[in-house]
Amino acid sequence: MNHDQHLLRIKPDLRAHMLLDAAAGLQRANDSDFSELDGGVEQAGFARDLVAALSRSPRIISPKYFYDAQGSALFDAICELPEYYPTRTELALLARHADEMALCMGPGADIVEFGAGSSVKVRLLLDALRAPRRFVPIDISGDHLQAAVQPLARDYPGLAITPIAADFTRDVELPPALPGSRRVGFFPGSSIGNFSPGEAAHFLRNAAQWLKGGGLLIGVDLVKDPAVLHAAYNDTAGVTAAFNRNLLVRANRELGADFEPAQFAHYAFYEPRLQRIEMHLVSRRRQSVVLCGRRFEFADGETLHTENSYKFTVEGFQALALEAGFEVGPVWCDRDRMFSVHWLAAPNE
Ligand code: AVI
Repeated sequence: MNHDQHLLRIKPDLRAHMLLDAAAGLQRANDSDFSELDGGVEQAGFARDLVAALSRSPRIISPKYFYDAQGSALFDAICELPEYYPTRTELALLARHADEMALCMGPGADIVEFGAGSSVKVRLLLDALRAPRRFVPIDISGDHLQAAVQPLARDYPGLAITPIAADFTRDVELPPALPGSRRVGFFPGSSIGNFSPGEAAHFLRNAAQWLKGGGLLIGVDLVKDPAVLHAAYNDTAGVTAAFNRNLLVRANRELGADFEPAQFAHYAFYEPRLQRIEMHLVSRRRQSVVLCGRRFEFADGETLHTENSYKFTVEGFQALALEAGFEVGPVWCDRDRMFSVHWLAAPNE
């Protein structure tokens, strides 16, 4: 029995203690080790970050912990909601302008996708590209990668597929460049909006280096009528609320915490000065929660801030890209200017 199997057999609360110890040890050893996570270490990171989140004021945690299997399924359901316009708008832009995008990317492309979501979007590009040579999806979750890669390998037999399980918000080692091929990035879904401004700048600077001589095709959600934004994160079916509360469900299952998810209200609103949706879980009453052997008090109305989703103007996003070392290229927007897809060229010097 390996270490993780052993951890899975012991009581959740004791396991949570051990995970916290493991996280502390690992962090001391080498923080960058977290880029190559197996299940046990990923949980150790969750335990460490949730304890840290509940220990500070105001309470805030990274949205990356939404995406366990259940959270990923809920996010897929969000993408189908009538109120959630980004997915279908970006898909329509990709379908409509794939030929122009493929021209920017060039023949024989070596495509790096940041995050391995559903492969529907990258398939639109692969079908338009001339003789793409390699596809390198990078995702923190090995399970996502597996699910994404198998059907693509079947449908694109001439394409080399090299998945990388890593956290691309940190430093990632890409496979050596293919001689005679341009490395081009693909980062759809406006996931860059879930980064803080500092993280977004850091990612764009790294990407401009990784993709030197090629470029990045990136989906970016736009500022718009706050009522439209509000509806997108407050759907009437309650799927986004379930997605938000799933963080607590996950903590109960994986870390042996005793959150009562129904006692936390889903609260999402647009903050126009910061151009972002904020998502919170707001305590419906005074209550306490035990996590990793520690008790945390929630006052009535106290919040755990779970996500930011930044929105951009086209010009504002281009300024960030320029600052990071890209040259701005064509931008494709829908008629209502809900969503944008940008080609950013990464010059050699
Ligand atoms: C993944 N990300 C771009 C989504 C967003 O819109 O910020 C996550 C999401 N959160 C609530 N609904 C969707």
